[in-house]
Formats: sequence, structure tokens, C-alpha cells
Amino acid sequence: MNIPFNSPYCCGTELDYIRQAFDNKQLSGDGLFTKAASGILEEIFNSKRALLTHSCTAALEMCAILLELNEGDEVIMPSFTFVSTANAFISRGALPVFVDIDPLTQNIDIYRIEQAITSRTKAIVVVHYAGVSCNLEHLLSLAQAYQLPIVEDAAQAIYSKYNNKPLGSFGDLATVSFHETKNISCGEGGCLLINNPKYIERAEIIREKGTNRSLYFRGEVDKYTWVDVGSSYLPGEISAAFLCAQLDQGMQITQSRLINWSTYDMAFREMIGIEEIQLMHIPEPSVHNAHMYYFLFPDICKRTNFIQYMKDQSIGCVFHYVPLHSSPAGVKYGKISGSMNNTDRAGNCLVRLPMGPDLDVQKVVDAVQNYSNWL
Ligand SMILES: Cc1ncc(COP(=O)(O)O)c(C=O)c1O
Repeated sequence: MNIPFNSPYCCGTELDYIRQAFDNKQLSGDGLFTKAASGILEEIFNSKRALLTHSCTAALEMCAILLELNEGDEVIMPSFTFVSTANAFISRGALPVFVDIDPLTQNIDIYRIEQAITSRTKAIVVVHYAGVSCNLEHLLSLAQAYQLPIVEDAAQAIYSKYNNKPLGSFGDLATVSFHETKNISCGEGGCLLINNPKYIERAEIIREKGTNRSLYFRGEVDKYTWVDVGSSYLPGEISAAFLCAQLDQGMQITQSRLINWSTYDMAFREMIGIEEIQLMHIPEPSVHNAHMYYFLFPDICKRTNFIQYMKDQSIGCVFHYVPLHSSPAGVKYGKISGSMNNTDRAGNCLVRLPMGPDLDVQKVVDAVQNYSNWL
């Protein structure tokens, strides 16, 4: 591929930071780079505590433990999401309850959440698809009315905002991904953001294999021991060093992505013959982070033809999630609330274009403009 769908971005300082981690003589987690990255993330997300993890998946698993879910408890979430959103909760015996999405943003349809709430509902998980959120004011008031905690799966949402507040700062808990495909990356990585302080102490324990090691290192207990369930969710210093290098240039990386995103958007909005194609919609008062540029075809055949055409031009375009409610594990472990028409449509019709800070965006625009089979 001349232009792959995703190409890992390096800002140039990563190896220097890794060398420093080596010189610091601590390569296990919670060293200087882990602390520095956590501090930067707490600032970006205006969060009370940011705990680095191996992945967003790991952070979601920590959320499921923190929420003390029992067999049969229900967790409301969209079906148009990555498997980890649901996997984390079924691993604790909970039942994912899938709700349809808003056809304009592909985010959970907040007006369908209430009808999915039962006496067994224990949490609502929202996914900020493409770094754009649902109406968070409405979500917060619903969650408050039913006394339900909110988890934000903000895997794709670093530097995005709603009403001038960072996505990831609204829920009791939020999770972020630093996977190679994300705006800020360290290969594989993630973080748990804790906005409700009641979860902080236990989260530190869960991340440290169920021990109170963090308290011990802060001198708050005189020895550390096994006190709770937990696992090994703490990444090492090499990953944290790579992440710090990227976070230090996070604003510039986002800015470059936004310029490329706008080039796409301006070109496609002016294209004749593209009327049947639904372009991305960023509703007020959202500010997005150019994580993704997608559009929707009227049907799966038209999408398949387009992806093949772009492949012939050596440009990687890809569809996205196979809706969880129709996947084998989703059928076995999940439950549907209401119709899933918009989710099925996104699963069949959505296509993502290459995106990144150092992309030859004009080449992609030219190829899209030369495609003549829109209708
Ligand atoms: C919405 C969502 N949640 C969770 C994840 C999992 O992230 P990670 O690969 O860091 O575990 C992804 C990955 O793409 C995602 O898109």
C-alpha cells in the first residue's frame, strides 16, 4: 500500500526518552516516566487520578472490578464498539445490554438508554466514537436520576471536548487507549481515569496484583500485602517513556491531524455526485480530535466497491466494528434492547479513510474525487 490505512507515527524523541528510562535504572512500572505520563494525563483530562495500564482493555477490566458487578448484573452499552467494551464486563459475570446508536454520530442513542434500564442495571458505558461524544448533559442527568455510575470508553478521545470540558472527565471512570492506531500511542498502552475519588485507593490496589504496594511506596503502610482481587495492569517504564515523548507533542500531533481532517471534509462537502454519502457530523458543543475520518454509503455493496477501488489505487480504506449483538459471543453473552437498525447500518455502510499527522492527504482526496461509481 502506498498509503496504508494506519501507519504508526513517531515524533522523533521517543528513543531519547527510552534511553533516559534505561539510564534511570528502573524499567519496571511506576518509575519517573510513569509518574510523568500520569501527571500529563491528569492535566489533559482534568482527572483526579490517571493510572497507566497495558491497554484500554486492561483499564476497562479494572472498571468492571471496581464496579463490583455480580452474576447477572446488567451494563448498558452500544453494540457498535470494540469487543473489549463488552468483554471486560462479561468476564465479571455481567450481562451487556446493547442499545442502538444515533445515526448521525454512531454513538449510543441516549434517548434509548432509559428503556433499557432495569432493576439489575449497574452501570452505563458510553463510547466516544471517532472522538465525538453523545449529549453528555442528558446522560449525566439520566445517570443521576437512576443513581448509576458512568464509564466513558474514551479509547479514541484524547484531546476531544464537550462543552469545553475534556471527554474522559464526565464519567465516574474513563478509559483511554494508546494502541498504535490511536492519536497518541506507545504501541500497546492505556490508562484508567478516575474522576470519582471513591474509586482511587481500590484502583491502585487492583492494578498492583491486589496488593497495597502503592500505599507502601508512599510510606502510608509499613509493609505491603495481598488485600483484594487484582492483576498485573501496570506497564513498564519503556512504554511510559515512549508515551511521554508523544504526550509532550500531543497538541502538535492533534493539530496536524485536524488539518488533514479538514482537508478531507472541505473537499468531500464540495463534491458533486456524493449526495447519497453521509459525511461525518460533529454536533455542537463537541470539539473532536481528528481521530478518524469516515463516511457512510447507502449499502454494503457500494462500500465494498469503494474499498476495492481505493485498494486498486494502493490506498487502505477499511470498515469498522462488526456489531457486537450479531457476533457469536455477543449473541451468547449479551442482550439487545430495542431495534438495532442504526448499528447494523454503521456495521454495513461505514468506511474509514487513512488518517494521521503526516499523511499525504491530497493523494487520498484525488483518488476519492476520481471515483465515479458513487450511485
Ligand atoms: C472503543 C474502543 N474501546 C476499547 C478499545 C481497546 O483498546 P486497546 O487496544 O488499548 O485495549 C478499542 C480499540 O481500538 C476501542 O476502539
